[in-house]
Amino acid sequence: MPDTFDVVVIGAGPGGYIAAIRAAQLGFRTACIDDWSRADGKPAPGGTCTNVGCIPSKALLQSSENFEQIGHAFAEHGISVTNPTMDVARMLARKAKVVAQNNDGILYLLKKNKVAFFHGKGAFAGKDGQAWKIAVSGATAAELAATHVIVATGSKPRALPGVAFDNLRILDNDGALAIPAVPKRLGVVGAGVIGLEMGSVWRRLGAQVTMLEALPSLLPAVDAAIAKEAQKLFARQGLVIHTGIGITSVTPGKDDVEVDYTDAAGKAQSATFDQLIVSIGRVPYTGELGAEVAGLAIDERGFIVVDDDCRTNLPNVWAVGDAVRGPMLAHKAEEEGVAVAERIAGEKPHVDFDTVPWVIYTSPEIAWVGRTEQQLAAAGVDFRAGQFPFAANGRARALGDTRGFVRILADRKTDRILGVHMIGPMVSELIAEGVAAMEFGAASEDLARICHAHPTLSEAVKEAALAVDGRTLNL
Ligand code: FAD
Ligand code: NAI
Repeated sequence: MPDTFDVVVIGAGPGGYIAAIRAAQLGFRTACIDDWSRADGKPAPGGTCTNVGCIPSKALLQSSENFEQIGHAFAEHGISVTNPTMDVARMLARKAKVVAQNNDGILYLLKKNKVAFFHGKGAFAGKDGQAWKIAVSGATAAELAATHVIVATGSKPRALPGVAFDNLRILDNDGALAIPAVPKRLGVVGAGVIGLEMGSVWRRLGAQVTMLEALPSLLPAVDAAIAKEAQKLFARQGLVIHTGIGITSVTPGKDDVEVDYTDAAGKAQSATFDQLIVSIGRVPYTGELGAEVAGLAIDERGFIVVDDDCRTNLPNVWAVGDAVRGPMLAHKAEEEGVAVAERIAGEKPHVDFDTVPWVIYTSPEIAWVGRTEQQLAAAGVDFRAGQFPFAANGRARALGDTRGFVRILADRKTDRILGVHMIGPMVSELIAEGVAAMEFGAASEDLARICHAHPTLSEAVKEAALAVDGRTLNL
């Protein structure tokens, strides 16, 4: 007899495990299936985000930033450290510990919320009356019956055509997070979010990093003023970024990898690297899900087809996160997971895709929400822009990091905030104010009139809002 549940979630990444917790909170008998394992075979829930994405990348970004600070920024505080060294094995062990703490935390949360966890692969195995049959294979083999199924199977790295990842010379995100010794020459194909974050980590530790980007300019989705500033600051740090390139071949050798490409002028070029990170985007993952058994519709790019409410073509089957349209972000997956659980309960939640924030955790950080200047111009929207530099912010001076600025775009007529864009210290945290303001339909005048604590970096947000009306107080 199958184990019967109201809701079965396939995948325990941020989309899946959060959906399972919310479903259980709403009183549903809930199960969650995930196949990710630790080195010792124990379950490792948390998906890409916890195991080879958000969490380990931020752990390495912090370790490498500490190293960079000690070498370059501490002296001006009067702290002298001679010849600091980096123990890469210890840094990687700390990263593994942080990941394991998060795996354990998720297992605890599932248990606390009485979600039954199955460690293995979940696949559609037909129907039993109105219920969906789900077969679990692997560590905890089982047969489940579910009234509702939420598919949250995530995504996988995209490879260059004909160039397989070996995670020795040609690295995906997993390999990029586990290079055992700092490479002398590190190549990165794709100067997007992963390329910039992982390139920054290894550059800070001493690698000579060369990034090869197909598009003619860096970060086209970012507000043009911010992208320009970022390019300038990254170049100053020593990140070499070639845009407008076309990869012609990648040849891994025993100790290195050769990359042939055409440069922006169409001239043939060749470069040799110790390792090559390929970060050219990710593709949805639905393999081994038995999608064809159930008749689950998948589009030509591999995404599960869903409507605005995450409903698939099948009754009572939902899909969330990286496996469906929209930005591949952990917090977007979580919001969809919560909303689906609430819809199953008959509630009417709403996910506002226009206010999903983005953060790139380089140094300085880049963060934004809403529309960019180029999007507004293309849509013919009349707007005013207000900008305030961290160089004029007292807290930034005290921190010793005055790079970057906050930029707010507001409708010229109504003053409603249309976009908030930032580059600078801790903007990953500051962007939340922009998100809240936009969610509440705030005008720039509203932000400008809110009392901000002094001295804080957040005063730069208030000043940028004042700048929209041309009345900054500290510039
Ligand atoms: P996933 O996290 O991919 O989880 C899917 C889970 O389902 C996996 O555990 C998978 O093994 C499991 N699974 C798949 N098929 C089956 C099956 N048939 N049966 C059982 N289990 C199955 N996003 C951010 O918002 N902030 C960041 O800072 C950030 N940093 C990132 C850094 C890197 C290097 C990478 C690669 C990604 C990063 N992301 C970041 C993106 C983020 O990781 C994803 O958007 C997020 O993990 C998507 O969540 P998900 O639940 O849809 O899928
Ligand atoms: P990406 O889409 O951010 O960047 C890929 C880059 O590769 C683009 O600039 C693209 O023009 C370039 N490219 C594509 N094909 C190429 C080719 N053949 N040759 C050279 N360049 C090529 O994808 P990335 O960096 O792989 O990350 C995947 C996703 O993971 C992100 O889009 C994001 O959704 C998520 N992520 C989020 C993070 C965050 O929130 N901080 C951090 C890391 C990943």
